[in-house]
Amino acid sequence: MSKYQQALIYFMSGTGNTYRAATWAGEEFNNQNTKMQIIPFDRANPTTEIIQGEKSLLGLFLPTHGFTAPWVMIRFALSLPAGEGTHAFISVTRGGTKFGNIYMPGFEGTAAYLLALILKIKGYKIRGVIGLDMPLNWTALVPGFSNKTAEKMNTRMKPKITAFINTILNGEKNFGFWTVFSLILIAVAVRIFIFWLMHPGIHTDSVTFFFLNELDMVRTPGYPIFIEFLLSINDLIPITTDYISLICFGQLFFLGVLNSLLLYRIAYLLTRKRIFSLFMGIFYNFNYFIIGFEFQLLTETLSITLLFSVIVLYLQFFKGKKLLALFAGIFMVLLIYTKPTFLLLGIFLPTLTFFGFYPKEKKVSFLKKLTPLWILFIAVNIIGAGGWALRNKIKFDYF
Ligand SMILES: Cc1cc2nc3c(=O)[nH]c(=O)nc-3n(C[C@H](O)[C@H](O)[C@H](O)COP(=O)(O)O)c2cc1C
Repeated sequence: MSKYQQALIYFMSGTGNTYRAATWAGEEFNNQNTKMQIIPFDRANPTTEIIQGEKSLLGLFLPTHGFTAPWVMIRFALSLPAGEGTHAFISVTRGGTKFGNIYMPGFEGTAAYLLALILKIKGYKIRGVIGLDMPLNWTALVPGFSNKTAEKMNTRMKPKITAFINTILNGEKNFGFWTVFSLILIAVAVRIFIFWLMHPGIHTDSVTFFFLNELDMVRTPGYPIFIEFLLSINDLIPITTDYISLICFGQLFFLGVLNSLLLYRIAYLLTRKRIFSLFMGIFYNFNYFIIGFEFQLLTETLSITLLFSVIVLYLQFFKGKKLLALFAGIFMVLLIYTKPTFLLLGIFLPTLTFFGFYPKEKKVSFLKKLTPLWILFIAVNIIGAGGWALRNKIKFDYF
């Protein structure tokens, strides 16, 4: 159900790519019964056409020129009347390419965010930004594509813009790739600074993690397998003999960055608020203890990755897909192998969901949808944790 009464699209298009994207967006407005107009920017009369207010949506569609917005579109955005809270989004087409079966994206540079900034300053509420990889028409740089290839590249983008418009019409914000990209940039930048500043630490107790094949019964295999994985990469492509630094590097730049993205995802799944979730993801990188753990030979960072992965998958159980339960179960087992403290979490999560949601839902369909997933999830947990206990019983006569 659309949140908007009307939508207005202004577009600029040289060879028709952006115009096509605008018409696809228009189709989705029609599908959702939202009154809409698509007008070329050079025939626009914004003062009479833009209806101000939160029930109106303005979309600017433009191609990328020289890694930014074409000057005429910047001037056009500057000339628009004050937004007074009118909602707006920006859609930029980029020059995609295709080599064999591989599609390469274009690069929009500042095209979308420059216009978003102009509109924001003018009092519009920016609801989303999207980049679409249409066929590259910069023929001074590369030869054009055949009609067939161009068509293939074009139609790949239709579902993308349709899904984008859908989220906007549902009242959600959608900054897609850029939110994730900026989070990765911040997470990496913080860690480059720390890696350069600090020396990795090692806990005396942790040294035994290096001896995978000499594990005693109190050492579960999760973390040693992770260490072994990093060391084998180093064996394949010899980089360093300083194994502690290598492991901390893996924890910081692989697990740490991933954790910050996973936390962003969890926050988004729970609140559906991108800015809040982005803040949570960024905040994670400035936690003194978290970074301290990443810098030592400790199980904590890997445990957080696995725990967050389980939660991300578990929160999507409501979609009813069995594959989610299978993977959540596998990650749960890996988590138990890394930190046995989480042994009962696999039972606790379904129990919590049942008592938390069932009284409100009280629907048979709720149980019908979730029960098979819970059974699969718990079964994988039992097989995984039980398998390790059995191995200990056989080898050491001890669970
Ligand atoms: C002069 C010129 C500069 C371009 N610069 C870029 C660029 O920096 N990055 C990019 O991804 N595509 C670039 N492109 C490709 C177009 O943005 C892309 O093909 C777009 O889909 C064209 O849309 P249109 O057919 O509506 O004009 C450029 C195209 C031209 C003609």
